[in-house]
Amino acid sequence: MNAEFSRRTLVAAAGAAASLNMLPQAANANPTSDPHPALRRTLSRIAFGACAHQSKAQPVWDAILETKPDLFVFLGDNVYGDTRDMAELRRCYAQLAEKPGFKRLRDNVPIISVWDDHDFGENDSGGDYPMKAQSRAAFLDFWNEPKDSPRRKRDGVYASYIFGPMGQRVQIILPDLRTHRTSLSTLDLGGMDYKDWAAARQKAGLSVPGPYARNSDANATMLGDAQWAWLEEQFHAPVDVRIFGSSLQVLADFPGWESWINYARDHQRLIDLVRRQRAGGMVFLSGDTHYGELSKLDLNVPYPLWDITSSGLTEVWSDVPPNTNRQGEAVREVNFGTVTIDWAGAATRISLQVRDVKGAVKLQQTVPLEALQIA
Ligand SMILES: [Fe+2]
Repeated sequence: MNAEFSRRTLVAAAGAAASLNMLPQAANANPTSDPHPALRRTLSRIAFGACAHQSKAQPVWDAILETKPDLFVFLGDNVYGDTRDMAELRRCYAQLAEKPGFKRLRDNVPIISVWDDHDFGENDSGGDYPMKAQSRAAFLDFWNEPKDSPRRKRDGVYASYIFGPMGQRVQIILPDLRTHRTSLSTLDLGGMDYKDWAAARQKAGLSVPGPYARNSDANATMLGDAQWAWLEEQFHAPVDVRIFGSSLQVLADFPGWESWINYARDHQRLIDLVRRQRAGGMVFLSGDTHYGELSKLDLNVPYPLWDITSSGLTEVWSDVPPNTNRQGEAVREVNFGTVTIDWAGAATRISLQVRDVKGAVKLQQTVPLEALQIA
């Protein structure tokens, strides 16, 4: 919320083959899914992206379409509303709807979506944003959520979908990291303005994280109790690949901007949930950052975990903050992500890719599905 911490302000200033993951109790559980017309299709390629400013040209959609995705996941900051005026927010969505490339995508590819701060409300906003019920209605209306969808009855836009037949079953969970998020903690900057503090660190040759700190408050949360209960239910569904589409980075440690690690209890709870539910096949997707990167966590986890971050569809951020879990280089240009699942052959393989505005692969990691299982 604090303007001095705005990324945009600073930018302006700076210029099955695997076995099913069934628990004993899950064997009898009915997989739950929110309604979606494409549920029966087997997903072999999922494209995703985040951070699309409606007032800018959006040429990236052509490259996204050329990858022939079975599904597109819009991971938040889908428009930059940044307003409490709901007519203005709906105008932002109308501008997105008029983008020729987005129109073509919408006409040809099923889309699922979740929001982040700028389409939820305001920069870095959380549960205290006063227009969240109204903005949720605008979001669900724009994304054509059926009137009788359970998603319209939840206190938040979180959703979970299950695609494809057994043996090729993909679950995509989209948590809402905004509606119930408690307030952010900030680093001790010694009384300095963040921009001055960041400039001083840069001059000293030190890494420059964002201004946010891990929130040590016992009640600090991104999801809230009701959404946590819902999320635990989703992990009961027997599926082959489980994709967690998070508007914020899950595994980055420690960028100092908004990310799961700021809410360390929720972060650990999520990893514990994977372990406790023996939830194999888990891959994290994330957005928000205005750069692309791959993060890997392989200590104190049930199996090596991967987070592929793609951002943004129009937004670019050159001053990439530290992330001790980053693999390779960050992608500092317009980008989108693809998840390609090779179901053929004896061993299913998942490829995670960050691609540039022309569709060229800038980062890639291929992981055998059998490596994403608890031994
Ligand atoms: Fe964001």
